[in-house]
Amino acid sequence: MTEILVLYYSVGGSVREMAHLVARGVNQVAGASARLRTVPPVAPRTQVAEPPVPDEGAPYAELADLEQCAGLALGSPTRFGNMAAAPKYFLDGTGALWAKGSLVGKPAAVFTSTASLHGGQETTLTSMMLPLLHHGMLIVGLPYTLAEVNHTASGGTPYGASHWAGSADDKPLTDDERALCIALGKRLAETASKLSR
Ligand SMILES: Cc1cc2nc3c(=O)[nH]c(=O)nc-3n(C[C@H](O)[C@H](O)[C@H](O)COP(=O)(O)O)c2cc1C
Repeated sequence: MTEILVLYYSVGGSVREMAHLVARGVNQVAGASARLRTVPPVAPRTQVAEPPVPDEGAPYAELADLEQCAGLALGSPTRFGNMAAAPKYFLDGTGALWAKGSLVGKPAAVFTSTASLHGGQETTLTSMMLPLLHHGMLIVGLPYTLAEVNHTASGGTPYGASHWAGSADDKPLTDDERALCIALGKRLAETASKLSR
């Protein structure tokens, strides 16, 4: 079984919905399955500990999830044109895996959601690629042969899937955005399957 880790952080639910669609795309590939995981928020004070298992949604990721996966889809909301602190904090704790080369040669893809259409989707997606490249991962994007990349009037980029959620974070994903989330998961799983042959 080619297991793809779909690792996301979401506060308002937009990136979570995208993660489920990416996972659906992964699961459409024969012999592939998605493992959904999230990360806890980063608190300025550590007086209140998060429960070891979140009250709802996906379990928290552990380093073993990264070690065991055949590929990684990483999703984060945009924060000032960059990825959020919580997934960055998790990635900053992966030095031991970097030292062992655990992720070298594994494919990876990224996805994000923003409030405004030009509020930093592409900068966020490319910033999310940087630590993954340091880990030696192979970045998988969305080719223009997917019609939705060409004609989307909302999210969806060659750098990865994206969603324009609006200032209230409540715009539903468009058909194009949904199709590209699924396509990203599918492409990632197909790539991982080919690489592991
Ligand atoms: C501190 C902060 C910074 C943000 N920075 C941006 C930004 O630079 N550009 C943008 O379009 N949206 C920005 N947003 C909005 C979120 O990226 C957006 O609401 C996203 O859809 C949230 O995803 P979620 O529902 O999965 O949490 C910001 C939100 C917060 C709280």
